[in-house]
Amino acid sequence: MAALRSAFKTAGVTANAAASVLRPAAPQVLRPASTLAAARSSRPATTKYGGVSVVTLCPGDGIGVELTDSVKEIFESLNVPVEWEEFNVSGETHGSEALFKEAMESLRRNKVGLKGIFFTPIETGSHNSWNVAMRQQLDIYASLVICKTLPGYPTRHKDVDFAIIRENTEGEYSGLEHQSYPGVVESLKVSTKAKAERITRFAFDFALKNGRKKVTCVHKANIMKLGDGLFLNTFREVAKEYESSGIASNDMIVDNTSMQLVSKPQQFDVMVMPNLYGNIVSNIGAALVGGPGIVPGCNIGREYALYEPGCRHVAKDIMGTGKANPAAMILSSTMMLRHLGLDTQANQIAESVYKVIQEGKVRTADMGGNAKTQDFTAAVISHL
Ligand code: NAI
Repeated sequence: MAALRSAFKTAGVTANAAASVLRPAAPQVLRPASTLAAARSSRPATTKYGGVSVVTLCPGDGIGVELTDSVKEIFESLNVPVEWEEFNVSGETHGSEALFKEAMESLRRNKVGLKGIFFTPIETGSHNSWNVAMRQQLDIYASLVICKTLPGYPTRHKDVDFAIIRENTEGEYSGLEHQSYPGVVESLKVSTKAKAERITRFAFDFALKNGRKKVTCVHKANIMKLGDGLFLNTFREVAKEYESSGIASNDMIVDNTSMQLVSKPQQFDVMVMPNLYGNIVSNIGAALVGGPGIVPGCNIGREYALYEPGCRHVAKDIMGTGKANPAAMILSSTMMLRHLGLDTQANQIAESVYKVIQEGKVRTADMGGNAKTQDFTAAVISHL
């Protein structure tokens, strides 16, 4: 039970810290650690009518509808005061651009959303990722994913507990590519000091608020001496400010990090990194604790917050089969509820999810069981 409580607490503190960094725009300058406490107290002004929070919902492609249906059902059974503004934006349907714009307007109005993943075609000439466009246009610069061993679910490594903080708006995801000569393609990775600084600051602030002890910068500065060098040097500058707060820091090249993660994952506490490494590391991290079906996530900026499963998988292979594990989406929605100040309901739902996983009677195929998405949802509701 103590272990269960601790897992449950982690999801809580994570969301609180995420909410804490939503603050009015501040100039991009290095600030002394002493100003941090003052800077992180405000909650965003989300849309509310008669005590009911309005949330933008984009189920997305693949298993998205199944996962968000599960969340809707749980919220309904608990009378959670949330009203959805739903937009079926799809990366597969032609003409989804108008719907995407409507969803963006809704997000700008409500300032908070829950989403599945929009499919992004690989073919040259196909549209750019709606997911990336959303994060860039809302400037939700920090992606936060927690990988923590779940009580009652055995995995190869025990006592894994680390947070992955990923820069969400630039780097390899700039979308700037061109063919300078047939057979020669230039793909631009854009790195700026201002964005490196705010994400590393987010990471240290997160560590402070959540009683974590160490922040590791993940990079490839030995090869990308300018781009990743800028990220690493900025991290080192910010790290110095937090030394007096007792937060240790180190840095590690991304390839070694991948090896260390699968051999000694317990050495990591908080990790901060540029965009693409964050995507890869969160997939490794999820696999360490049970897979993409159970790891929640969120994207946080100064004004907006958007919640989605930490691994961001479309899962077209199991779409419509009822095999999808809704735990990651449900836990992401509980992080959102804490952000909205609905802690009681968030705690009830998260505790119920952890209980179902710990009991082990109702497990979806990805966790070695035969249960369907709907069975898991029903089990969560029965434990509320
Ligand atoms: P995918 O969607 O094929 O998922 C990988 C595997 O995980 C599949 O076998 C899937 O069934 C399983 N899985 C994922 N979520 C699950 C759940 N909730 N319950 C049960 N099983 C689940 O992976 P994909 O599309 O190849 O994506 C790989 C990476 O690419 C991800 O990290 C993601 O960030 C990125 N990405 C891909 C997009 C795309 O359109 N393919 C769009 C956005 C991001």
